[in-house]
Amino acid sequence: MLEDIAEILVSEEALSRRVKELGQAITNDYQDRELVMIGVLRGSVFFVTDLAMAIDLPLVMDFMAVTSYGPASAAHGVVRILKDLDEDIRGKDVLLVEDVVDTGLTLAYLLKNLRARGPASLEVCTLIDKPDRRLVDTPIRYRGFTLKPEFVVGYGLDYRQRYRNLPFIATLKPEAYR
Ligand code: IMP
Ligand code: MG
Repeated sequence: MLEDIAEILVSEEALSRRVKELGQAITNDYQDRELVMIGVLRGSVFFVTDLAMAIDLPLVMDFMAVTSYGPASAAHGVVRILKDLDEDIRGKDVLLVEDVVDTGLTLAYLLKNLRARGPASLEVCTLIDKPDRRLVDTPIRYRGFTLKPEFVVGYGLDYRQRYRNLPFIATLKPEAYR
C-alpha cells in the first residue's frame, strides 16, 4: 500500500493534534447540551471515533450512510441514504461529522434532510475542507484541515474502497489509479 503514496499531506501526529484541538473546542461549545454526533459512513469512521474520544462530554453517537450518484447527477446534489439514523434527533444538539466537503452538495443534502427532523441545533465538523470547488455555500462550524482540490486518501478516505486504513492523509501516485 505504501508504495502507492505520492505525498503525505497530513501526518499521523498532525491528525492526532488537530483532532484533540477540535475535541476541546466542541467540549467548550456544548457544555450542558444534549450532543448527538452523526458520523457519515464510511469516510468519517476514524475521524468520528477519535473525535468523540477527544470530547469530554456525555454524547450519543449515530451514523448515516449515503451515496452520491456519478459526477453528472452529483452536480444536482442527488444523494441516496443507504443507512438512516437509529436515533430521533428532534430537540437534540446535532453535530454532523463529515470526511470531506468538496462541492458541498452532499453536505447540503444531508443538512436539509436533518434539519427537517427538528433538531435544536445542527452544526458541521469536517475533517477536510476543500473550498476551491464549492458549488453551494455550506456552513462549516469546525474544520480539521483546508486542502487544495486534490484527491486524497487515508484516515478513512478511500479510492475505490482502498487506502482507508492508512494512518495519514496522502495523495496517490498516478500509477495507483490504473
Ligand atoms: P461533495 O458532495 O462534492 O462535497 O463531496 C463530498 C464527498 O466526496 C465526501 O464525503 C467524500 O466521500 C468524497 N470525496 C471528496 N473528495 C475526496 C477525496 O479527496 N478523497 C476521498 N473522497 C473524497
Ligand atoms: Mg463522504
